Amino acid sequence: MTASEPTLAGADRRSPVLSIENLTVELAGEHGHVRVLDDVNFEIGARETLGLVGESGSGKTITALSVMGLLPKSARIPSGSIEMEGEQIVGCPLSDLQRLRGSRMAMVFQEPMTSLNPAFTVGDQIGETVRRHRGASRRAARARAVEMLDLVGIPNAARRVRSYPHEFSGGMRQRVMMAIALACEPALLIADEPTTALDVTIQAQLLDLLRDLQDQLDLALLFITHDLGVVADICDRVMVMYAGQVIEGADAETLFEHPEHPYTEGLLRAMPHIETRSGELFSIPGSPPAPLDRPPGCAFNPRCGYAEPTCTADAPPLRSIEPNHTTRCLLAEKLRLQGVQE
Ligand SMILES: Nc1ncnc2c1ncn2[C@@H]1O[C@H](COP(=O)(O)OP(=O)(O)OP(=O)(O)O)[C@@H](O)[C@H]1O
Ligand SMILES: [Mg+2]
Repeated sequence: MTASEPTLAGADRRSPVLSIENLTVELAGEHGHVRVLDDVNFEIGARETLGLVGESGSGKTITALSVMGLLPKSARIPSGSIEMEGEQIVGCPLSDLQRLRGSRMAMVFQEPMTSLNPAFTVGDQIGETVRRHRGASRRAARARAVEMLDLVGIPNAARRVRSYPHEFSGGMRQRVMMAIALACEPALLIADEPTTALDVTIQAQLLDLLRDLQDQLDLALLFITHDLGVVADICDRVMVMYAGQVIEGADAETLFEHPEHPYTEGLLRAMPHIETRSGELFSIPGSPPAPLDRPPGCAFNPRCGYAEPTCTADAPPLRSIEPNHTTRCLLAEKLRLQGVQE
């Protein structure tokens, strides 16, 4: 990045790449529809990386699938707006979604083997996006596939373009997924736990690659993980999700140094290299509520060591506690929550 380019986050606030407002999503369950996302709001600008963190079931993947228009057919979106480069995604025709997917927005999933087709070469699978979205010839698509494999760091790209997915290691497959996702130069890349299945060395290489690609392609990146260490490495801003809601949002440094929600404090204390004063590893007691079992008031109150009677009475809204820092904790001003230093 050059000195003249905007920093924090490089976000161009005037025209975010992705803008989500008041998004609520309900999915069909055994007992009718249940709310799995509740009033989610955020924006991502070009060259900005937004981290979405939270325990299993907090709604991270559902948020991503909502953006991609890939929710299960039974899903309902009772309210909310998702704008991709100004284009409304909620309720838009399938043909519009298909045009946007792959060309303007793309997603990389945790397990590449489930997204790659074992019956086609990786060259065919990269080329297919380029042919579909850009009407490229077979030859041009093949050339683009080689170029993309090279860009994502696959050695001997001209030869490997004829290989099948099973001929690659896990880390290499994830690179192939990035090549497919980025072949048409989308503005937004969603990476859903892209490195959790990989060992730490390969994980670090992929994160480096992602950062490089982001700079080269001016990508807006929505990075989903439950690993706060990865967040510290790669994200400009972070949003913490709990039980389908965003409960805290701030730039990454601020969130780590002084969290304003007890759940975030708990996540930070539970990071493997952070030890409590007694020297033991900490874990947040209890588990998140199922969508049908939300407690009254703050959804985190049954697990919160700071909870007071008011926390079970009122459902707290997300509010600003300082510029660019939001929290859903009613008590945030009076708590002195502990962060971590770099
Ligand atoms: N296809 C589905 N049908 C019904 N409910 C679903 C479906 N997919 C997810 N859910 C529910 O929606 C909620 C949010 O799930 P989501 O997959 O977004 O969690 P997540 O934060 O991505 O978790 P993880 O870290 O395990 O990937 C959970 O309560 C989950 O059980
Ligand atoms: Mg998920």
